Amino acid sequence: MKGNELVIDRLTKNYGNKIAVDRFSAVFTPGVYGLLGSNGAGKTTLMRLICDILPPTSGEVRYNGKDLRSLGENYREILGYLPQKFGFYPNFTAEKFLYYMATLKGIDKNTAKKRIDELLETVSLTDVKKHKIKTFSGGMKQRLGIAQAMLSEPKILILDEPTAGLDPKERAKFRNLLSLFSKDRIVILSTHIVSDIEFIADNILIMKKGELILRGTVDELVSKIKDSVWEVNVPINNLSEIEGKYTVININSEGDFAVVRLLASEKPFENAKACTARLEDLYLYCFNESSVTENV
Ligand SMILES: Nc1ncnc2c1ncn2[C@@H]1O[C@H](COP(=O)(O)OP(=O)(O)O)[C@@H](O)[C@H]1O
Ligand SMILES: [Mg+2]
Repeated sequence: MKGNELVIDRLTKNYGNKIAVDRFSAVFTPGVYGLLGSNGAGKTTLMRLICDILPPTSGEVRYNGKDLRSLGENYREILGYLPQKFGFYPNFTAEKFLYYMATLKGIDKNTAKKRIDELLETVSLTDVKKHKIKTFSGGMKQRLGIAQAMLSEPKILILDEPTAGLDPKERAKFRNLLSLFSKDRIVILSTHIVSDIEFIADNILIMKKGELILRGTVDELVSKIKDSVWEVNVPINNLSEIEGKYTVININSEGDFAVVRLLASEKPFENAKACTARLEDLYLYCFNESSVTENV
């Protein structure tokens, strides 16, 4: 198939009265995209719609100009998917599981062997390939899930919270793996952890209550709040006044004092310290109702 372009066009999914995905539109060409949003934002639903597992209420997904519904099996062949909740076969060994998945995907035996050996190596599971999955830790299962999603060398790779359960070392490896894999491919990964995608994704899409609210590179997004992030140390008695006056991103209280990170177009207090804006600031700002109460 020539080209590699995925178009999401006013995609909407309702569950009864609940709008899980709300007129979501975006164009994806090869690259790594980070779909960022708090729990319940609609990330999993959006991904299931993109994978054609769930029918949309309205709107459509087009791959190279064709509606998914007209592509059928051809679309599945170019798609790799790691669901958020991935059901494994506990009594299969890692290797057997991958062979089984390869068969389901119609990959011939020789190709499968080469690919499986490579992937086991990439996700550091070669040593335990003969071990049963039920003996694996969360991180090991997650790595196996990532490997199965990549089996068919898909043109589109959809990973739902792929870094959940990975330790910092595994996260770093995953990052390298993706940057090697993503050439000429569309990779969309979801997370609610900003630091997970800040360095992996070329493009960030922030989703809130089913809607795409912001989109851009990390630099573009961060520049929206450049020179507006401040930190100030204040007595906790003054907190409510500050919260009334400024957009508070975060509060860290210690004893009678609190360090408040806030947005202000000009220096808010004599002792306020200017901070370098981070994607995390923008994210907390977007979702600030919950973040503020959580940290107080
Ligand atoms: N099968 C379902 N039936 C009813 N509501 C659902 C279903 N799946 C998800 N939802 C609701 O849709 C919203 C989006 O959920 P989800 O897509 O899982 O978000 P996220 O992956 O960002 O946490 C949530 O409010 C969730 O409760
Ligand atoms: Mg989810």
